[in-house]
Amino acid sequence: MPSKTSDLPIYVLNGPNLNLLGTREPEIYGSTTLAQIGEMAAARAKAFGLAVMFRQSNHEGVLVDWIQECRTEGCGLILNAGALTHTSVALHDACRALSHPIIEVHLSNPYAREPFRHRSFISAAANGVICGFGANGYVIAVDALAALLKDQPA
Ligand code: DQA
Repeated sequence: MPSKTSDLPIYVLNGPNLNLLGTREPEIYGSTTLAQIGEMAAARAKAFGLAVMFRQSNHEGVLVDWIQECRTEGCGLILNAGALTHTSVALHDACRALSHPIIEVHLSNPYAREPFRHRSFISAAANGVICGFGANGYVIAVDALAALLKDQPA
């Protein structure tokens, strides 16, 4: 079992419409609810001795506030910004101002979808991107973040 990497939680932040997971276009996003994804992420993080702060908002400014909060209250960020991924310079800038590792996550593979989903304002500010693996992508993201945190100086 990997050793504990931080006393502060991983922030797992979810953007617009992700509160509807389970019933929203299940053929694209699957049938797992956001609450279930939160449990999956928390269980995986626990295996690394890490806690999770799991939140969702439909509002860009709230997400900016939470990313800023993560600067002092968190140790890393997993971000599925939903549609704001493709539009938000504000979220890009907030991520840039965060010195912790960042993993961008998408349930679907945006690059196999409409052209307007091919541009991400988050990717350039993230350490890595995980997309196309459905709800399991969040678990993979916890693994990726835990590995990055382990490599960081104490
Ligand atoms: C999404 C992909 C986005 O293009 C879309 O707007 C979402 C969900 C995903 O998880 O696949 O809301 O981020």
